[in-house]
Amino acid sequence: MTTVTERDVQLLRDALGPLRDREQIAERLLESSAKHSFDPDKELDWESAAEDGKWFWPPELVSLYDTPLWRRMSEEQRSDLARHEAASLASLGIWFEIILMQLLVRHIYDKPVTSNHVRYALTEIADECRHSMMFGRMIKWSGSPDYPVPRVYHNLARVLKTISTTPGSFAATLLGEEILDWMQRLTFPDERVQTLVRGVTRIHVVEEARHVRYAREELRRQMVTAPRWERELTRVSCGEAARVFSVCFINPLVYENVGLDRREAVAQVKASGHRAEIMQTGAKRLTDFLDDIGVLNGVGRRLWKSSGLLA
Ligand SMILES: [Fe+2]
Ligand SMILES: [Fe+2]
Repeated sequence: MTTVTERDVQLLRDALGPLRDREQIAERLLESSAKHSFDPDKELDWESAAEDGKWFWPPELVSLYDTPLWRRMSEEQRSDLARHEAASLASLGIWFEIILMQLLVRHIYDKPVTSNHVRYALTEIADECRHSMMFGRMIKWSGSPDYPVPRVYHNLARVLKTISTTPGSFAATLLGEEILDWMQRLTFPDERVQTLVRGVTRIHVVEEARHVRYAREELRRQMVTAPRWERELTRVSCGEAARVFSVCFINPLVYENVGLDRREAVAQVKASGHRAEIMQTGAKRLTDFLDDIGVLNGVGRRLWKSSGLLA
């Protein structure tokens, strides 16, 4: 493990400049929430049928895109895989959001109940409640099954969400939010994609921007003020979370469900240069930020590299 001295912390403080006031940031986020919040039940047409010839997820973001297997697949099979992967990502999103809701509840447990910071956290929990219901509804609408993460990670997260430290929680939050957000930013303006999926991703991108801001500011603050053991632990736990995240990203059952050989598909995704580039580009905004605030040091960096999310 790397040793961080108090001098390092001071240097980091100097490099970051004064940390913006927590209450002020929360106030701005509350104003934005008041202006731009959506009710997906009313906002989207859940009675609509899927449109012929439209994708459920942009093909370039489908795991097998541009692999030898992809080239052998029929157009129909590709489109079917995109539909199942959209459901797999939505399932992952719900898993993350449910974890995040618990982390936020734990985060505010000891904080002043009338503060903007707590009020905003409660607003974000309400956002995530609506998102998880929206994703669940989208999976059902698409006619795909839902795709829970493998049991072992489901249980590992049960432990982590119960014991994780505040900076560890916010680092995991960003991991869950930023990469999916990057994909959704490409999805909602894409006219080749189903109208309903575009609506879901648009709502999510707008509301998620605030969540990313809140988590970044808090993590930045924590990486300066938290005790050394907590900062060290954050580096390791965040790296481990990145590894688990990349393993769970697409549930391999999707391949079987569209009639492909699971092992062959997984191997081709692993070997795909296009896929590696997509995942690293998707993670770049996050890894740059984590590097900036000192989360990507030592063991943490090695774990990030082994996750394939960092070049
Ligand atoms: Fe969300
Ligand atoms: Fe979020």
